[in-house]
Amino acid sequence: MFDKVINLFNKNKKDVFSCQYGYKRLYFFGQQVSFCSIGNPTQLRAYPTIYKNFNGKIDINDLAKKIQETRENAKKGIVPQSCEGCHLIKDYIYNSKEKRYPEIEYIQFSDYFLCNSRCLYCNSWITTELKDGKYVDKNGSTNSYEILPIIKQLIEKGMITTDTIFDFAGGEPTIYRQFEETIEYLLNFGIKHIEIFTNAIKYSKGIERGIEEGVINITVSIDAGTKEIHKKVKGVETYDTVYENLQKYLEKAKNKKQVQSKYVIVDAINDTENEILNWIKTSKEIGIEKLFINADNRYFEKELEKEKIKKLKKLTDLFIENTKDIDVDIYANLRFIMK
Ligand SMILES: C[S@@+](CC[C@H](N)C(=O)[O-])C[C@H]1O[C@@H](n2cnc3c(N)ncnc32)[C@H](O)[C@@H]1O
Ligand code: SF4
Repeated sequence: MFDKVINLFNKNKKDVFSCQYGYKRLYFFGQQVSFCSIGNPTQLRAYPTIYKNFNGKIDINDLAKKIQETRENAKKGIVPQSCEGCHLIKDYIYNSKEKRYPEIEYIQFSDYFLCNSRCLYCNSWITTELKDGKYVDKNGSTNSYEILPIIKQLIEKGMITTDTIFDFAGGEPTIYRQFEETIEYLLNFGIKHIEIFTNAIKYSKGIERGIEEGVINITVSIDAGTKEIHKKVKGVETYDTVYENLQKYLEKAKNKKQVQSKYVIVDAINDTENEILNWIKTSKEIGIEKLFINADNRYFEKELEKEKIKKLKKLTDLFIENTKDIDVDIYANLRFIMK
């Protein structure tokens, strides 16, 4: 009897051997296009890459074919070699209502890595130079390819729909040459959800519109509670500009939770109670209702000393204790330490 109920329940479902992402996500990094951004921990974080030397010229039929083949193989229990052994692989069950090929559920552009900041904990900006008021690569190039033609082709092919979630990281997306044009295009197309990781140094009219329409969420890397430490972490003197921009975005926001602030704890730089409490206080004062906290990835490059773990736990507890009245999230690095 119980089996019968299960079978009825599963009538329109298929077993698929995959992780929860089901090869329905696309990540554009530098020259790689991949199905995943996490990487397989059992294979030195190998990625299921679709293209290894991507230069922006997309063969849309080839991409569609590769995605379809990967999903068909997953249904037979065959996953890309780089996914073998990954702890996230499960006998994943597709709900009949769930999106199927050719749709992409989530797409991220992190292909662009120039930046107008110089964060201590980040490598993105290293090759950036400012020449004649423009951010360029050391070799003088504007860095990366044009993403709008790629997006247009994915839409034409039915792979991107208004339900596809967009994510822009980088580098600093707001200084990418096609950023405003791309956001405008996506909003006109009717995309319902866009996530943007930004330092908020440059105010964006596109972000303003998306926030006003309730479509764009921004996560701003603040990483400090005072002007002095902000300068130390970010390597640029932009604290006042960033807060002015945050206030302007908040004034426009359909929902205040669309404007989010994030703090990456950096060893011996901003790892103090005072700094974290000041960040929380300033955020609440200007009306931010969602905060994120994380620890610098570099903590994990060598074995973590007990004292450092203790300190990170204490700071995370302090964060939790002082943010009970707003929405928060703790990113994976700290969650790992707290468990
Ligand atoms: C590379 S940045 C690009 C987006 C944007 N420029 C910004 O500052 O948010 C994407 C995200 O990665 C985070 N990030 C970069 N390096 C990190 C590190 N070593 N540890 C933890 N997070 C890091 C940044 O704080 C940011 O939220
Ligand atoms: S602002 Fe973002 S991309 Fe730029 S250096 Fe900082 S974290 Fe990296």
